Amino acid sequence: MADADIETEIETEPELTPEEEAERDRIRERERREHHAMAMRLVRQYPDPALRVAATEISDVDDDVRGLVERMADIMRRSHGVGLAAPQIGVLRRVFVYRAGADDPVRAIINPEIAVRSEEREVDTEGCLSLLGGEVTVPVERHERVVARGLDESGEPVEVEAEGLEARVIQHELDHLDGVLIIDRTSPEQRREALAKLRPQPVLGPT
Ligand code: NI
Repeated sequence: MADADIETEIETEPELTPEEEAERDRIRERERREHHAMAMRLVRQYPDPALRVAATEISDVDDDVRGLVERMADIMRRSHGVGLAAPQIGVLRRVFVYRAGADDPVRAIINPEIAVRSEEREVDTEGCLSLLGGEVTVPVERHERVVARGLDESGEPVEVEAEGLEARVIQHELDHLDGVLIIDRTSPEQRREALAKLRPQPVLGPT
């Protein structure tokens, strides 16, 4: 999942002069462009078929899986995402990484399942690193709270009680393991609009 929600958080910063503010905005814009370029380069983009296949269960949490988790965490950080599922890098195995906030540690859940879902649901805007590197966003309804179960990188059972953004990220990433994207979970009009933006664009040569 892309970081649309994280960036809207209120930040407390010392007073800046207009020049410093302009410089900060320039740096942020440059970083945004870099993260986006990174996502476009490192993360499979719609309509890549890997995004539409159900991933297979991991039978053995071995060094291969730990290496995969490390690679995914690295790609997620470099493209400034809050979540990344293995199929997004072309690996059709049931594992995702995520972080609940920009400064939170990265967590991995292997063979994740949602054990409990709240009846309450909430609609919020989501982006996905695989949809134009996070630039296509649509409103998606999710359960407000979930309890997720799976395995951690040592193969030990983990249980995560999540709400708000964390619950949303978990549901979004779990969808990826079943080949489901946010455009499948939004209204027909929003889906049409998103698909129009996702239509293949003329490809520029390497830069
Ligand atoms: Ni996504």
